[in-house]
Amino acid sequence: MNKVNQTVLSGVQPSGNLHVGNYLGAIKNFVTMQKNYDCYFCVVDLHAITIKQNPIELYNNTLEVVATYIASGIDPTKNVIFNQSSVSMHAELAWILNCVTRMGWLKRMTQFKDKAGADKENASSGLFTYPTLMAADILLYKATHVPVGNDQKQHLELTRDIAQKFNRDYNCGNFFPIPEPIIEDNTSRIMSLKDGQQKMSKSDPSENSRISLTDDTDSIVKKIKKAKTADIVMPDNLKKVIELKEVNNLLNLYSGFSDIDKVKLIEQYSGQKFSSFKLDLSELLVSKIEPISNEIKNLMNDKNYLLNVMKDGKNKATEVAKKTINETYDIIGLVRYEA
Ligand code: TRP
Repeated sequence: MNKVNQTVLSGVQPSGNLHVGNYLGAIKNFVTMQKNYDCYFCVVDLHAITIKQNPIELYNNTLEVVATYIASGIDPTKNVIFNQSSVSMHAELAWILNCVTRMGWLKRMTQFKDKAGADKENASSGLFTYPTLMAADILLYKATHVPVGNDQKQHLELTRDIAQKFNRDYNCGNFFPIPEPIIEDNTSRIMSLKDGQQKMSKSDPSENSRISLTDDTDSIVKKIKKAKTADIVMPDNLKKVIELKEVNNLLNLYSGFSDIDKVKLIEQYSGQKFSSFKLDLSELLVSKIEPISNEIKNLMNDKNYLLNVMKDGKNKATEVAKKTINETYDIIGLVRYEA
């Protein structure tokens, strides 16, 4: 192995069926990164409960994210795959970081404002301190690189501020390395199939707005058929395509799954009606998603296997996390005992 001794940590919330947006925005990149980095892929169940969850669904969704990681090509023998709550140091470090993080910093987080909606007084305080738990996820493993979607950029900047303030307040040099974001490019920011202005989301009430990684062939074909396009033919240049938000989104999907450059695709389909483009797109999606979705189903029928992968991941993660927490306690002056 010629990994460069740099560490990647990323997390996915177990909040229901993962869709093609999650795949292109996160998981596909994880698969590439496992070659070059020591990777920790976390299922962030403690983040999920900042919003009310059904216990049975939470449990199953957690296993399903692990199944999706593996079905997509993440090798559980070469990477650390685990659920956040199984390594108690995440919660411990989050508390410490809460005491470093300033109220004003958290108040600026746009995701809290979006997720809390109109009734902010009624949001959980966990939703408000969500970013400090995310910082703990990253800093526990002293991750050097964090692949995140655009929507998490602000949280990563906050993590950098928290790490810097901790290092400075406790005069401990570069104890926490300042993590670098690896931001997905625009092509992997997939929007709703019904509205090119809205991000594809598992919470959209319309099933037709998204394609899940567990969708069968018929629904993929049907959803692409119904997807919004435009009343004209495929334009002949990128500038015009970008103005047609829904068309641009379908091209991003095509490009993301085929690795063919968007400009090439535009050349290929320019002047044509969208029906043949859509047919090709659904064929491509089916060919890429079907093997993943079949493998997710197989793995979900073998829960013991998934639990063993997670247990192994928990043990590996705990070893590193324990070391960081002990060092952190010593730096702060908390009394602790060697086991
Ligand atoms: N907040 C991230 C999201 O919703 C998930 C997450 C939690 C995460 N902890 C993380 C991502 C640490 C990267 C690193 O997408």
